Amino acid sequence: MDDIQISTTDGVQVIRIARPAKKNALTGTMYAAMTEALLRGDADPAVAAHAILGSDGVFTAGNDIADFLATARGEGGLSRSTVRFIRTLPLVAKPIIAGVDGPAVGVGTTLLLHCDLVYATPGASFATPFLDLGLVPEAGSSLLMPQRMGYARAFEMLVLGEAFTAERAREAGLVNAVVGPDLLEPTVMKAGRRLAAKPPEALVQARRLMRGEPAAILQRTDDEVQAFRERLSSPEAREAFQAFLEKRKPDFSAARARAAKMAGG
Ligand code: COA
Repeated sequence: MDDIQISTTDGVQVIRIARPAKKNALTGTMYAAMTEALLRGDADPAVAAHAILGSDGVFTAGNDIADFLATARGEGGLSRSTVRFIRTLPLVAKPIIAGVDGPAVGVGTTLLLHCDLVYATPGASFATPFLDLGLVPEAGSSLLMPQRMGYARAFEMLVLGEAFTAERAREAGLVNAVVGPDLLEPTVMKAGRRLAAKPPEALVQARRLMRGEPAAILQRTDDEVQAFRERLSSPEAREAFQAFLEKRKPDFSAARARAAKMAGG
Protein backbone atom coordinates (compact mmCIF):
# COMPACT_ATOMS: atom_id res chain seq x y z
CA MET A 1 0.00 0.00 0.00
CA ASP A 2 1.22 3.52 -0.82
CA ASP A 3 0.44 5.11 2.56
CA ILE A 4 2.95 2.80 4.23
CA GLN A 5 6.11 2.21 2.22
CA ILE A 6 8.42 -0.63 3.16
CA SER A 7 11.99 -1.11 1.96
CA THR A 8 15.10 -2.79 3.31
CA THR A 9 18.61 -1.34 2.94
CA ASP A 10 21.80 -2.58 4.64
CA GLY A 11 19.86 -4.75 7.09
CA VAL A 12 17.50 -1.93 8.10
CA GLN A 13 13.81 -2.32 7.30
CA VAL A 14 12.37 1.14 6.77
CA ILE A 15 8.66 1.61 7.49
CA ARG A 16 7.73 4.98 6.05
CA ILE A 17 4.41 6.66 6.83
CA ALA A 18 3.33 8.56 3.72
CA ARG A 19 -0.20 9.95 3.64
CA PRO A 20 0.63 13.63 3.12
CA ALA A 21 -2.92 14.85 2.40
CA LYS A 22 -3.95 13.86 5.94
CA LYS A 23 -0.67 14.63 7.73
CA ASN A 24 0.16 10.91 7.85
CA ALA A 25 -2.89 10.14 10.05
CA LEU A 26 -3.13 6.39 10.52
CA THR A 27 -6.05 4.31 9.24
CA GLY A 28 -6.81 0.66 10.01
CA THR A 29 -5.16 -0.47 6.77
CA MET A 30 -2.03 1.50 7.61
CA TYR A 31 -1.80 -0.03 11.11
CA ALA A 32 -2.21 -3.48 9.52
CA ALA A 33 0.61 -2.79 7.03
CA MET A 34 2.91 -1.60 9.83
CA THR A 35 2.14 -4.64 12.00
CA GLU A 36 2.80 -7.04 9.12
CA ALA A 37 6.09 -5.27 8.34
CA LEU A 38 7.28 -5.52 11.96
CA LEU A 39 6.41 -9.22 12.16
CA ARG A 40 7.88 -9.99 8.73
CA GLY A 41 11.06 -8.07 9.52
CA ASP A 42 11.46 -9.86 12.84
CA ALA A 43 11.28 -13.19 10.97
CA ASP A 44 13.62 -12.12 8.15
CA PRO A 45 17.32 -12.93 8.65
CA ALA A 46 18.19 -10.08 6.27
CA VAL A 47 16.68 -7.53 8.70
CA ALA A 48 18.64 -6.51 11.82
CA ALA A 49 16.58 -3.48 12.85
CA HIS A 50 13.39 -1.62 11.98
CA ALA A 51 13.25 2.11 11.28
CA ILE A 52 10.03 4.13 11.42
CA LEU A 53 10.00 7.40 9.49
CA GLY A 54 7.42 9.97 8.43
CA SER A 55 7.47 12.06 5.28
CA ASP A 56 6.91 15.60 4.02
CA GLY A 57 7.88 17.18 7.33
CA VAL A 58 5.39 15.18 9.40
CA PHE A 59 5.94 12.05 11.47
CA THR A 60 2.24 11.29 11.98
CA ALA A 61 -0.90 13.15 13.13
CA GLY A 62 -1.88 9.98 15.03
CA ASN A 63 -5.00 7.94 14.61
CA ASP A 64 -7.32 9.08 11.83
CA ILE A 65 -9.97 11.16 13.61
CA ALA A 66 -12.62 10.36 10.98
CA ASP A 67 -12.10 6.68 11.90
CA PHE A 68 -12.50 7.60 15.59
CA LEU A 69 -15.75 9.39 14.77
CA ALA A 70 -17.08 6.38 12.82
CA THR A 71 -16.35 4.30 15.92
CA ALA A 72 -18.04 6.84 18.18
CA ARG A 73 -21.14 6.62 16.01
CA GLY A 74 -21.15 2.86 16.48
CA GLU A 75 -19.87 2.03 13.00
CA GLY A 76 -17.45 -0.61 14.33
CA GLY A 77 -15.33 -1.02 17.48
CA LEU A 78 -11.83 0.38 18.00
CA SER A 79 -10.36 -1.04 14.81
CA ARG A 80 -8.99 -4.55 15.23
CA SER A 81 -5.87 -3.55 13.32
CA THR A 82 -5.23 -0.64 15.71
CA VAL A 83 -5.39 -2.95 18.71
CA ARG A 84 -3.25 -5.54 16.94
CA PHE A 85 -0.62 -2.88 16.20
CA ILE A 86 -0.37 -1.61 19.76
CA ARG A 87 -0.33 -5.20 21.10
CA THR A 88 2.45 -6.10 18.62
CA LEU A 89 4.75 -3.22 19.62
CA PRO A 90 5.82 -4.73 23.00
CA LEU A 91 6.42 -8.10 21.31
CA VAL A 92 8.78 -6.91 18.58
CA ALA A 93 12.15 -8.65 18.96
CA LYS A 94 14.52 -6.54 16.86
CA PRO A 95 15.49 -2.95 17.69
CA ILE A 96 13.28 -0.14 16.42
CA ILE A 97 14.77 3.23 15.48
CA ALA A 98 12.53 6.24 14.84
CA GLY A 99 13.28 9.43 12.96
CA VAL A 100 10.87 12.24 13.83
CA ASP A 101 10.48 15.43 11.83
CA GLY A 102 7.43 17.68 12.41
CA PRO A 103 4.45 16.62 14.52
CA ALA A 104 4.30 13.24 16.25
CA VAL A 105 0.77 13.21 17.66
CA GLY A 106 -1.02 10.62 19.79
CA VAL A 107 0.23 7.16 18.88
CA GLY A 108 2.97 8.94 16.93
CA THR A 109 4.45 9.83 20.33
CA THR A 110 3.40 6.78 22.35
CA LEU A 111 4.89 4.32 19.83
CA LEU A 112 8.27 5.95 20.49
CA LEU A 113 8.23 4.37 23.97
CA HIS A 114 8.60 1.03 22.18
CA CYS A 115 11.54 2.25 20.11
CA ASP A 116 15.18 1.86 21.15
CA LEU A 117 16.71 4.88 19.45
CA VAL A 118 14.79 8.05 18.59
CA TYR A 119 16.26 10.91 16.55
CA ALA A 120 14.39 14.16 16.00
CA THR A 121 14.81 17.43 14.14
CA PRO A 122 14.50 20.83 15.85
CA GLY A 123 11.09 21.11 14.12
CA ALA A 124 9.75 17.92 15.71
CA SER A 125 6.97 18.18 18.29
CA PHE A 126 5.53 15.53 20.54
CA ALA A 127 1.92 15.73 21.71
CA THR A 128 -0.66 13.35 23.11
CA PRO A 129 -3.99 15.22 23.11
CA PHE A 130 -5.95 12.18 24.36
CA LEU A 131 -7.69 14.04 27.17
CA ASP A 132 -8.70 16.93 24.92
CA LEU A 133 -10.39 14.36 22.68
CA GLY A 134 -12.26 12.83 25.64
CA LEU A 135 -9.97 9.79 25.49
CA VAL A 136 -7.35 8.13 27.70
CA PRO A 137 -3.67 7.33 27.00
CA GLU A 138 -2.92 4.18 24.96
CA ALA A 139 -0.18 1.83 23.71
CA GLY A 140 1.03 1.16 27.25
CA SER A 141 1.91 4.83 27.69
CA SER A 142 0.11 5.19 31.04
CA LEU A 143 2.74 2.75 32.35
CA LEU A 144 5.77 3.48 30.14
CA MET A 145 5.65 7.29 30.01
CA PRO A 146 5.94 7.82 33.82
CA GLN A 147 8.71 5.18 33.90
CA ARG A 148 10.56 6.96 31.11
CA MET A 149 10.32 10.60 32.21
CA GLY A 150 8.94 10.54 35.76
CA TYR A 151 5.33 11.12 36.81
CA ALA A 152 5.45 14.92 36.76
CA ARG A 153 6.52 15.25 33.14
CA ALA A 154 4.40 12.29 32.02
CA PHE A 155 1.29 13.90 33.53
CA GLU A 156 2.09 17.14 31.78
CA MET A 157 2.36 15.33 28.48
CA LEU A 158 -0.41 12.72 28.77
CA VAL A 159 -3.05 14.59 30.75
CA LEU A 160 -2.34 18.31 30.43
CA GLY A 161 -1.66 17.68 26.74
CA GLU A 162 1.48 19.83 26.73
CA ALA A 163 3.37 19.54 23.43
CA PHE A 164 7.08 18.89 23.98
CA THR A 165 9.70 20.40 21.70
CA ALA A 166 12.47 18.16 20.40
CA GLU A 167 14.83 19.57 23.02
CA ARG A 168 12.37 19.01 25.86
CA ALA A 169 11.72 15.46 24.62
CA ARG A 170 15.48 14.87 24.62
CA GLU A 171 15.82 16.18 28.17
CA ALA A 172 12.90 13.95 29.18
CA GLY A 173 14.64 10.85 27.79
CA LEU A 174 12.26 10.26 24.89
CA VAL A 175 14.74 11.35 22.22
CA ASN A 176 18.41 10.35 21.87
CA ALA A 177 19.60 13.29 19.80
CA VAL A 178 18.33 16.31 17.90
CA VAL A 179 19.80 16.62 14.40
CA GLY A 180 19.20 18.90 11.43
CA PRO A 181 16.49 17.84 8.95
CA ASP A 182 19.08 16.87 6.31
CA LEU A 183 20.84 14.64 8.81
CA LEU A 184 17.76 12.88 10.19
CA GLU A 185 17.51 9.94 7.82
CA PRO A 186 21.29 9.49 7.44
CA THR A 187 21.54 9.40 11.27
CA VAL A 188 18.78 6.78 11.52
CA MET A 189 20.36 4.65 8.78
CA LYS A 190 23.84 4.98 10.29
CA ALA A 191 22.53 3.74 13.66
CA GLY A 192 20.69 0.93 11.84
CA ARG A 193 23.86 -0.12 10.01
CA ARG A 194 25.79 -0.12 13.30
CA LEU A 195 23.15 -2.41 14.80
CA ALA A 196 23.23 -4.62 11.68
CA ALA A 197 26.97 -5.14 12.23
CA LYS A 198 26.43 -6.53 15.77
CA PRO A 199 26.21 -10.26 16.49
CA PRO A 200 22.48 -10.79 15.75
CA GLU A 201 21.61 -13.22 18.56
CA ALA A 202 23.33 -11.14 21.22
CA LEU A 203 21.56 -8.04 19.87
CA VAL A 204 18.09 -9.55 20.22
CA GLN A 205 18.93 -11.02 23.61
CA ALA A 206 20.38 -7.80 25.00
CA ARG A 207 17.32 -5.89 23.87
CA ARG A 208 14.97 -8.42 25.49
CA LEU A 209 16.91 -8.25 28.75
CA MET A 210 16.80 -4.47 28.74
CA ARG A 211 13.10 -4.20 27.93
CA GLY A 212 12.01 -6.94 30.34
CA GLU A 213 9.01 -9.22 30.06
CA PRO A 214 6.24 -7.72 27.91
CA ALA A 215 3.41 -9.22 30.04
CA ALA A 216 2.89 -6.16 32.27
CA ILE A 217 2.90 -3.82 29.27
CA LEU A 218 0.38 -6.00 27.43
CA GLN A 219 -1.85 -6.11 30.50
CA ARG A 220 -1.76 -2.32 30.79
CA THR A 221 -2.37 -2.00 27.02
CA ASP A 222 -5.49 -4.18 27.35
CA ASP A 223 -6.76 -2.12 30.31
CA GLU A 224 -6.21 1.06 28.31
CA VAL A 225 -8.00 -0.42 25.26
CA GLN A 226 -11.03 -1.20 27.40
CA ALA A 227 -11.19 2.33 28.81
CA PHE A 228 -10.43 3.85 25.39
CA ARG A 229 -13.31 1.89 23.80
CA GLU A 230 -15.72 3.19 26.44
CA ARG A 231 -14.47 6.74 26.00
CA LEU A 232 -14.72 6.59 22.18
CA SER A 233 -18.48 6.32 22.30
CA SER A 234 -18.84 9.07 24.96
CA PRO A 235 -20.63 12.31 23.97
CA GLU A 236 -17.46 14.24 24.94
CA ALA A 237 -15.31 12.32 22.48
CA ARG A 238 -17.90 12.51 19.72
CA GLU A 239 -18.09 16.29 20.12
CA ALA A 240 -14.27 16.59 20.11
CA PHE A 241 -13.90 14.55 16.87
CA GLN A 242 -16.73 16.38 15.13
CA ALA A 243 -15.24 19.74 16.16
CA PHE A 244 -11.79 18.79 14.79
CA LEU A 245 -13.21 17.75 11.43
CA GLU A 246 -15.39 20.87 11.27
CA LYS A 247 -12.36 23.05 12.23
CA ARG A 248 -14.05 24.61 15.28
CA LYS A 249 -13.56 24.59 19.05
CA PRO A 250 -15.36 21.76 20.86
CA ASP A 251 -18.34 22.64 23.06
CA PHE A 252 -18.33 20.48 26.18
CA SER A 253 -21.15 22.35 27.97
CA ALA A 254 -23.65 19.46 27.67
CA ALA A 255 -21.03 17.05 29.07
CA ARG A 256 -20.25 19.50 31.88
CA ALA A 257 -23.92 19.54 32.92
CA ARG A 258 -24.00 15.73 32.91
CA ALA A 259 -20.76 15.59 34.94
CA ALA A 260 -22.18 18.04 37.51
CA LYS A 261 -25.35 15.94 37.81
CA MET A 262 -23.23 12.80 38.33
CA ALA A 263 -21.10 14.56 40.97
CA GLY A 264 -24.20 15.86 42.75
CA GLY A 265 -25.62 12.32 42.84
N1 COA B 1 -7.15 12.40 11.41
C1 COA B 1 -7.77 12.72 10.26
N2 COA B 1 -7.44 13.77 9.51
C2 COA B 1 -6.42 14.52 9.95
C3 COA B 1 -5.72 14.26 11.13
C4 COA B 1 -6.13 13.13 11.87
N3 COA B 1 -5.51 12.76 13.01
N4 COA B 1 -4.76 15.18 11.31
C5 COA B 1 -4.85 16.02 10.25
N5 COA B 1 -5.84 15.62 9.44
C6 COA B 1 -6.29 16.23 8.18
C7 COA B 1 -7.07 17.52 8.43
O1 COA B 1 -8.44 17.22 8.70
C8 COA B 1 -6.87 18.22 7.10
O2 COA B 1 -7.72 17.61 6.17
P1 COA B 1 -8.44 18.52 5.03
O3 COA B 1 -7.32 19.18 4.28
O4 COA B 1 -9.18 17.51 4.22
O5 COA B 1 -9.31 19.49 5.77
C9 COA B 1 -5.43 17.84 6.72
O6 COA B 1 -5.14 16.63 7.44
C10 COA B 1 -4.40 18.87 7.09
O7 COA B 1 -4.51 19.12 8.50
P2 COA B 1 -4.33 20.55 9.16
O8 COA B 1 -4.85 20.48 10.56
O9 COA B 1 -4.91 21.59 8.24
O10 COA B 1 -2.73 20.68 9.15
P3 COA B 1 -1.81 21.59 10.09
O11 COA B 1 -0.46 21.56 9.44
O12 COA B 1 -2.46 22.90 10.37
O13 COA B 1 -1.72 20.79 11.49
C11 COA B 1 -1.51 18.84 12.88
C12 COA B 1 -1.12 19.52 11.56
C13 COA B 1 -0.98 17.42 12.86
C14 COA B 1 -0.85 19.62 14.05
C15 COA B 1 -3.03 18.91 13.04
O14 COA B 1 -3.61 18.39 11.85
C16 COA B 1 -3.59 18.10 14.17
O15 COA B 1 -3.53 18.52 15.33
N6 COA B 1 -4.18 16.92 13.88
C17 COA B 1 -4.95 16.15 14.81
C18 COA B 1 -4.03 15.35 15.69
C19 COA B 1 -4.81 14.54 16.67
O16 COA B 1 -5.50 15.03 17.53
N7 COA B 1 -4.68 13.19 16.50
C20 COA B 1 -5.33 12.21 17.32
C21 COA B 1 -4.42 11.83 18.42
S1 COA B 1 -5.17 10.71 19.57
